[in-house]
Amino acid sequence: MNTQEPIEEVAVKTWFKAAPTEKFPKNAGACIKYKDQQVAVFNFTRENKWFACQNLCPHKMEMVLSRGMIGEENGVPKVACPLHKNTFSLTTGESLTGACDAITTFPVKIEDGYVWVGFSD
Ligand code: FES
Repeated sequence: MNTQEPIEEVAVKTWFKAAPTEKFPKNAGACIKYKDQQVAVFNFTRENKWFACQNLCPHKMEMVLSRGMIGEENGVPKVACPLHKNTFSLTTGESLTGACDAITTFPVKIEDGYVWVGFSD
């Protein structure tokens, strides 16, 4: 099983200015593109937090996670893939259903009304 490490803020080399905060739906995801990567960004207004992870679901390699439902499991923010409902932690990327490889998560910051996503390249 792939144990993908989350990109920690200290490892960030590039803060990518994605879009103004109001462009992102509340309590849902949207897809942005950085270089050739699709990244799902989640505006978790219920928790007043933002998260980002790869858009690719490792189960069947589908670009769908930005369309997944977000929620919480034992205090862990998570996203459920819209296709077969496997769930992933939005903080560590681990598969909470245990059936899939982990996903990569990215740090997010809000500055000047914009959403910025951190990348290590
Ligand atoms: S493609 Fe995501 S759970 Fe199957």
